[in-house]
Amino acid sequence: MITIIAATNRPNSNTLKVAKYYRQQLKIKGLDANLLSLEHLPPDVLNTDMYGKRSPAFQKIQDLINDTNKFLFVMPEYNGSYPGVLKVLIDASTFPDSFYDKKAALVGISSGKYGNIRGVDHFTGVCHYVHLNVLPLRIHIPNIKTELDAEGNLIKEDTLKFTNEQIDKFIQF
Ligand SMILES: Cc1cc2nc3c(=O)[nH]c(=O)nc-3n(C[C@H](O)[C@H](O)[C@H](O)COP(=O)(O)O)c2cc1C
Repeated sequence: MITIIAATNRPNSNTLKVAKYYRQQLKIKGLDANLLSLEHLPPDVLNTDMYGKRSPAFQKIQDLINDTNKFLFVMPEYNGSYPGVLKVLIDASTFPDSFYDKKAALVGISSGKYGNIRGVDHFTGVCHYVHLNVLPLRIHIPNIKTELDAEGNLIKEDTLKFTNEQIDKFIQF
């Protein structure tokens, strides 16, 4: 099972638009993917789901993670890295079974000109630590405000080419 994680809890994020775009493209290629937006983490997750505690709301997310063997993380650049809420998801999930020996593709986006290169690198290190195997083709989309049309579709030729290549490799991975 594939799950796309939109790795921010910011409302109306470009991250969620890009995550939905990836889900649509996977669908066109014949694969159904779940979509988890980190907007839907329990609002009090720091108190209800860390260090051995588990709320019914997070248990549903844990069940989804347990049933997933391939993850696609779309992560925005926040202060030169990936959002802290993504690390909260990893730290609140059971260890080591949540991600161990599973597979992941990573997509970084930013409004600035680096496309979250550092954040994707930082998160790659976390993935390796938890034995989550990362697809070598990682995608960086800078200047995100110029990349999406009103319907949330990516529109630039080179971005379409590289995202499409990543999706094909993710399916084969
Ligand atoms: C807390 C925060 C920190 C941010 N830091 C950066 C940054 O370091 N570099 C950058 O290019 N954009 C930064 N941005 C802008 C985001 O890249 C921009 O909002 C983009 O649309 C992706 O984030 P989104 O999914 O929340 O929309 C930041 C945005 C927020 C909310």
